[in-house]
Amino acid sequence: MEMISVRKIQFLILFVCLFKFSNPVSASENLLQDGEILYRDYCSHCHGGTGDGDGYNAENLDKEPAELSDLKFISKKTNVQIYRVIEGGGRGVKKSHLMPAFGKTLSEKEIWSLVSWVRHLAKDESHPVELPANTSSKKPKRILVGSADIEFFRRWFSIEGKSKKAKEYGELLFQRQKSCVACHQIDEEGGKVGPNLSRSAFNYPPEWIYAWIKNPQTFRADSKMPNLNLDDKQAWALVAYLSGLHEENEGLPEELSAFLKIEGDPERGKALFFDLNGKATCSKCHTVKGVGGDVGPNLSYIGTSRSREFLLESLLKPEAVITSGYSSVMILTKDKKFITGIKKNESAGGIDLVNKDGDRIHVPREQIKKSKTQKISMMPGNFKDILSPQEIADCLAFLKTLTASQITFPPAIKSADK
Ligand code: HEC
Ligand code: HEC
Ligand code: HEC
Repeated sequence: MEMISVRKIQFLILFVCLFKFSNPVSASENLLQDGEILYRDYCSHCHGGTGDGDGYNAENLDKEPAELSDLKFISKKTNVQIYRVIEGGGRGVKKSHLMPAFGKTLSEKEIWSLVSWVRHLAKDESHPVELPANTSSKKPKRILVGSADIEFFRRWFSIEGKSKKAKEYGELLFQRQKSCVACHQIDEEGGKVGPNLSRSAFNYPPEWIYAWIKNPQTFRADSKMPNLNLDDKQAWALVAYLSGLHEENEGLPEELSAFLKIEGDPERGKALFFDLNGKATCSKCHTVKGVGGDVGPNLSYIGTSRSREFLLESLLKPEAVITSGYSSVMILTKDKKFITGIKKNESAGGIDLVNKDGDRIHVPREQIKKSKTQKISMMPGNFKDILSPQEIADCLAFLKTLTASQITFPPAIKSADK
């Protein structure tokens, strides 16, 4: 018995060595596979699934995304040149600021895998991509915004946050220097990869905007929003700009704002949230700290990232703002069936969606006759009728206890945030 197992091990070692040293093809294939997935997550909305420059967001951009499948265009560039554009963004190489920088979001190895996928899209075989020695596969270091940073920001914001100078600098960064406008609309102008930010003053506490834009990946590892390497001065100015938009006319109608005056009990709200046989069944669709379903967004730190007013509106008028990445789509199939659900992905192969029961469905492209994004929410719109005002206040009080552990907001935010 012992002899056999020793021999087995020898075999295994031989096999592993052969595989490792005689098979460079598999390394570049891995690179390609990684590149394909990263490309779908970070690039296809602008450059299109096959690199033709026709992603769904392309029509919102003043500069057309490059046609990456164009062999003539791509073969003129060296691998290092392509690497630099992805790393530093358009502005880094004197091209449009609408091409975002990914060097603070992706590892060196991930960027090389994208270079190899770009070559693949153009069917360019004359520039094989080989990883330079010592290529790091570590993600860039994440900046943690701590409570001292928040305190610093808050002091600055209370003095300078409304100044014309700060707002103008923020606007310049947003519209012309960083890539924000390529993905976000303000007053119907700009991209649609992320949420429309016209209502920032109403939706988000200023502290949250600051913490989020400094490094989205701290909060959501798979966010499509890259870390745009903002220093504090830039991030602060961007908050001043966003929090100053339409400040004057936001506010809730009286029939909603009345609920804000009722004192809620977070413990009762929590029980209501998690009771799957109760009236609300929130946790059927939402995860909080690891428990619950995933039809709707994760709410683990929603108390930090949203104002009380916005939470109340989300609860009673969910269709007013559809969370980015949760728009519902209606598909008509060729055999005349209607399928609705939340669109999770779209590729040349078809559309992936999640229906309201949480089932994942793939509809192949050849079965789709028509598909349309809808302005309705998959969240029930009748909580105002089925919950009592006290229960609504309890729910709201519970949501406000859900805070991000990375940033501790000192108690001051409660009064600033009403
Ligand atoms: C928000 C839209 C957007 C996203 C997302 C985006 N790009 Fe671009 N990209 C552009 C635009 C616009 C240009 C054209 C820039 C110009 O010509 O001035 C461009 C240009 C390029 C170019 C050509 C640069 C040159 O030298 O002419 C490459 C290569 C490229 N992008 C790769 C990528 C990769 C890889 C990703 C994903 C990691 C990506 N892009 C994500 C908008 C985008
Ligand atoms: C490549 C696209 C892209 C770029 C560029 C981009 N964002 Fe975003 N942004 C997103 C997406 C997508 C979301 C939604 C959150 C998510 O899905 O992770 C988001 C969310 C946000 C939010 C709301 C956060 C929340 O809690 O939902 C703010 C504020 C924001 N972005 C500001 C900015 C600013 C300021 C810039 C420029 C410095 C910027 N974004 C650049 C894609 C982008
Ligand atoms: C049938 C599934 C479902 C149920 C039940 C449900 N939700 Fe939702 N919820 C969603 C979906 C989908 C979204 C995203 C679309 C949107 O913004 O309307 C959402 C969005 C939200 C948002 C906004 C999140 C953000 O990122 O801005 C909040 C807050 C919320 N729900 C709270 C609740 C609470 C509290 C309950 C229980 C009283 C509840 N939901 C019940 C599906 C559900």
